[in-house]
Amino acid sequence: MSKEIRSGRGGFGTDMGFVLAAAGSAVGLGNIWKFPYITGEYGGGAFVLVYLGCIALVGMPLLYAEMIIGRRGGKDVFDSMSTLTAQAGLPGRLATWGVGLLSVGSGFFILSFYSVVAGWAVHFVSIAVGVSRASPAGSQATFTALAGNGLLSAWWHTVFMALVVGVVAAGIHSGIERACKILMPALMAILLLLLLYVGATGGLGSAATFLFRPDFSKLSAGAVLEALGHAFFTLSLGMGAMMTYGSYLQSDRHVVRDQLAVAILDTVIALAAGLVIFAVVFSMNAEPGAGPGLVFITLPGLFARIPGGGLVSIAFFVLLVVAAWSSGISLLEVVVALGVDRFGWRRRDAAIVLGILIWALGLPSAYSSGFLDFMDDLTTRYMLPTGGLLIALSAGWLLERADREAGFRALPGGGAMLAAGWTFTIRFLTPILVLLVLLNGIGAF
Ligand code: TRP
Repeated sequence: MSKEIRSGRGGFGTDMGFVLAAAGSAVGLGNIWKFPYITGEYGGGAFVLVYLGCIALVGMPLLYAEMIIGRRGGKDVFDSMSTLTAQAGLPGRLATWGVGLLSVGSGFFILSFYSVVAGWAVHFVSIAVGVSRASPAGSQATFTALAGNGLLSAWWHTVFMALVVGVVAAGIHSGIERACKILMPALMAILLLLLLYVGATGGLGSAATFLFRPDFSKLSAGAVLEALGHAFFTLSLGMGAMMTYGSYLQSDRHVVRDQLAVAILDTVIALAAGLVIFAVVFSMNAEPGAGPGLVFITLPGLFARIPGGGLVSIAFFVLLVVAAWSSGISLLEVVVALGVDRFGWRRRDAAIVLGILIWALGLPSAYSSGFLDFMDDLTTRYMLPTGGLLIALSAGWLLERADREAGFRALPGGGAMLAAGWTFTIRFLTPILVLLVLLNGIGAF
């Protein structure tokens, strides 16, 4: 009998399946599009170092917190939060409603614009395989003709949303887990091939120097806060995505190990993508600090001129689509789980209906880059950090100790030292750092 039927609401078949799905959520446009371009803008090495620190101090503690809340609660975000914080009275209810509403809102908002950007990547695959045509006037013109064309952007947004809905409708085990078990290894294989390619054709040395030799004179307060904010986005934190995936786990035993695996995979893949992109950029004497256009304008322009560029271009944009796909899935799953667990809808109906609503919400972003940026800012700068703050405070102060530390219990020596370290971090360090991101978001500095 399949897991789906046995436990009623479904679940991951294996621990590996869970890790790949959670890593699939984490690894996305954030790793392959955003991380390289912000690293380029902030000057490389020193920024990377700060980013790694943020992953360790804010990212990993929150990743554990979300996974353990989901795992112990065993339901959608609202139900898990309310079960685990019920004994905390009013603060518990406030946290439940705060985290719940922010999660649903972020699920809708992020996926709506994320799908438009992912759709652009699908368009570039279509160009790379010769189905769509690039502009004869060059890569800037090609991108403008896409992003400035609402109908075309909306079309690819529709294609991408269909891919996402199709997987989520099929269930946790037979949809999400099965897809990620194929997509994640494929993603790593493509990335490895691209690394071998740049290793053979040059530029890898300068890329590694750029990423790993810190020049602290280039570091600003803005860079630190950007790194902190990105640590959130890249690990899919602050909106219950990891909480929802955690709710499909069968045991507490491996939560600590699993979150470590996810954080490492996410980081290694971001760094590898950075190496590939900057190797191409430096080998062609191009600009690393091109901003958001780095992947959609600079790279296609360079691919047209490097040896084997046609194949490299296919590989790179398929990589981008695969990464975005497994992330989009996790965004939709947060709201679908709510429909299924709380309102008793059938999974397939919930996925289709909610998918259509999110698709509709994405149309304004397809037609207006101003609206897209607005949605991006609203969620990344305000909603995710607020959600993350509430989750950190809930995990640290509202959860019972038995729930809070359940994931550490199976570690050698009962994981007492690690549990104490985590508790201190999630109670004090993480909330303070997140508060800084938030204040920066409202322009307080
Ligand atoms: N982490 C993904 C990326 O790096 C995006 C993403 C998926 C996400 N689910 C999320 C971001 C939930 C925040 C919250 O592209």
